Amino acid sequence: MRASVSSFPESQCEQSCEPTTSGPESGGAGGTKVVRGLLHSELDADEIHLWYACLDQSAADFRSLLSPDETIRAQRFHLERDRQRFIVRRGLLRTMLSAYLHADPGQLQFCCGRNGKPIVTDESGRKISFNLSHAEGLALYGFTRGREIGVDIERVQDVPNMDQIVERFFSPTEDAALRTFAFSSRRRAFFVCWTRKEALTKATGDGLTACWQAFDVSPFPDEPAGPPRICVDSTAAGWAVRDLQAPLGFAAAFAVQGDDTRNVLRAWPNL
Ligand SMILES: CC(C)(COP(=O)(O)OP(=O)(O)OC[C@H]1O[C@@H](n2cnc3c(N)ncnc32)[C@H](O)[C@@H]1OP(=O)(O)O)[C@@H](O)C(=O)NCCC(=O)NCCS
Repeated sequence: MRASVSSFPESQCEQSCEPTTSGPESGGAGGTKVVRGLLHSELDADEIHLWYACLDQSAADFRSLLSPDETIRAQRFHLERDRQRFIVRRGLLRTMLSAYLHADPGQLQFCCGRNGKPIVTDESGRKISFNLSHAEGLALYGFTRGREIGVDIERVQDVPNMDQIVERFFSPTEDAALRTFAFSSRRRAFFVCWTRKEALTKATGDGLTACWQAFDVSPFPDEPAGPPRICVDSTAAGWAVRDLQAPLGFAAAFAVQGDDTRNVLRAWPNL
C-alpha cells in the first residue's frame, strides 16, 4: 500500500512501457531448480496458484535472471536490503513463470498491459496471467490462465492518516462499516478492506487510478469478501474477491474474473 491522500494519481499514466528481456548469461540458477522442484508443473484452467515467498534470502541465485531494465531498477534502491528483496522478488517471479511456461526464466519478456500492469509475452500458447504484491520481506504471487488476477498483501500496522485515506478511497458503506469496529480491531478491518479493494483494482489493472469509492467490499474479517457490490459503475461486475490466510501480522486478498475456480495456496520456502 503506497497510497496517501497526497500521492493519489489523478490521471491515467501515459508513460510508454518497453518490453524487457534479460541477457544471454541468464538462467540455470541454483534457486531455480529448487523452486521448479516444488512447483506444481501444470496450472489447470480452473485453478489459481497463490504463492507466499520470503524475500529475505540470498539474492545470488536470482541476480543473473534479471533483465537489464530490472537490473537498473535494482540499482536505484538506496537501501541494500530493499535491493536484495527486489532481486529475489523478480527472480522468483521469473522462476515461477518459467516453470509454468516451460521456458528459460532469463529469457522471459514482460510488457505492460492496462496502466502498466505487467504481462508476460508467451509464444508457446500457454497463456498465463499473473500478479504480485510485496510487503516488507514477504511477497505474494498469483497465477492463473485465461482470466485476470490481482493480489495484495499488506503489513497490518498503524496508519496515522487512516481517516483521510478512508474518506478518499472507501465507499460510504465501507466507511460506515469501519466505524462499527472498536478502536482495537479497526486497524485490522481497515487492512482487510484495503487488501480486498487493492486486489480487485490490480486485477482490472486500474490500481490507484480506479475510483475506489465506486464499489464496496465488506471490511468484516469473518465475512466473505466478494463479489464486490457496485455502487456507481460496472467495472467490478463479474469479479470475485477473496481473502487469503496470511502470515501473522499481515492481511492478504486476491481477485479473479469469475467464481468457478479452485485455489491452491503454497509457500516458498516454508514460512
Ligand atoms: C498497482 C499499484 C496499486 C501497486 O501498488 P503497491 O501497493 O505499491 O505495490 P504492490 O506490492 O501491491 O504491487 C506491486 C506490483 O504490482 C504490479 N503492477 C504494477 N502495475 C500494475 C497495475 N496497473 N495493475 C496490477 N498490477 C500492477 C507489478 O508487478 C508490481 O511489482 P514490481 O514492482 O515487481 O513490478 C500501483 O502501482 C498503481 O496504482 N499502478 C497503476 C497506475 C500507475 O501508476 N501506473 C504507472 C505505470 S504506467
